[in-house]
Amino acid sequence: MSAVPASTAAAMNLSSSSPPSPSFDAASWSQNHLARVEGALSQWVGDSAPAGLGDAMRYAVLDGGKRLRPLLVLAAYEAACSSAGAGAAAFDDAALRAACAVELIHAYSLVHDDMPCMDNDILRRGKPTVHVRFGEAQALLAGDALQAFAFELLTPDDSTTPAATQAALCRLLARAAGSAGMAGGQAIDLASVGIALTEDQLRHMHRLKTGALLQGSVLMGAVCGHAAQPAYKALSDYGAAMGLAFQVVDDILDVVADSATLGKTAGKDAAADKPTYVSLLGLERAQAYAQELLHEAQAALTRSGLPDTRALAALADMVVRRSH
Ligand code: IPE
Ligand code: IPE
Ligand code: MG
Ligand code: MG
Ligand code: MG
Repeated sequence: MSAVPASTAAAMNLSSSSPPSPSFDAASWSQNHLARVEGALSQWVGDSAPAGLGDAMRYAVLDGGKRLRPLLVLAAYEAACSSAGAGAAAFDDAALRAACAVELIHAYSLVHDDMPCMDNDILRRGKPTVHVRFGEAQALLAGDALQAFAFELLTPDDSTTPAATQAALCRLLARAAGSAGMAGGQAIDLASVGIALTEDQLRHMHRLKTGALLQGSVLMGAVCGHAAQPAYKALSDYGAAMGLAFQVVDDILDVVADSATLGKTAGKDAAADKPTYVSLLGLERAQAYAQELLHEAQAALTRSGLPDTRALAALADMVVRRSH
């Protein structure tokens, strides 16, 4: 498995200025877990795909991205395990597969989001977008294949993970990615160009297009770690608040950051006349709202009663403080 550069965790701003506990090293936690995810993705993705499809799939997934969703799966898994006892460790393989599966869905959503029929972007993760590099048809297929592979990863032949758990993970991911989640939110996004949404409508769009997959990541980790009620509900609330905060900050960064820092084209939302938290509330109130959501997320972690939620707390902090 390939190693992750030591700079990656620092680039994610995971060396929190207000760490949840002095004994928790968020940067090392992130670096260790990123290494596992990068290694697994590199081993699994696009290996035997024909006719150049594998190259497009690997290009879309490897060498870039903050990997926030996989880290959320693993952090939620470990938080749930912190109260579940030793038995939960047997699900380590399921948690790693879930982490990679979520990233595959996310990568597919980015490939399609960038295509000319959607946001028409040429830069992603600091590289030309997949359709620019490989053509539109191959980009479409790479997205399709990544989505299918996500579910294959969750249902391995020789798994020790019970079939019911595999099915629960597939259901959570399907729901987060489909019409009730990401794809539905993307449809609202495209239908909302040039339209002044109300705050409720904008929140709904953001919860679907981005929040659902982030919340789904947390829930998949919780399932792998056997989280029981009421911890599961509290983790779900954490995921909802943090997931919405993520897109509020994405809206803010589109305005305040430059393309080199973002690795994607800055200023696209205003140029495309998309409704965002900045266009609705202005920069300052959007920033205040992201902070409010961070506090909601942290309160949900406290409510969970789980003994160790420090990685989840650090990730929520990163979501709001990030620079890209
Ligand atoms: C970008 O997501 C797309 C949105 C959902 C706003 P990320 O900011 O997590 O993108 P990567 O994975 O780090 O490239
Ligand atoms: C996209 O939102 C969310 C996805 C489901 C991919 P954006 O269109 O704002 O994402 P960026 O800014 O291009 O990364
Ligand atoms: Mg978009
Ligand atoms: Mg976009
Ligand atoms: Mg954006």
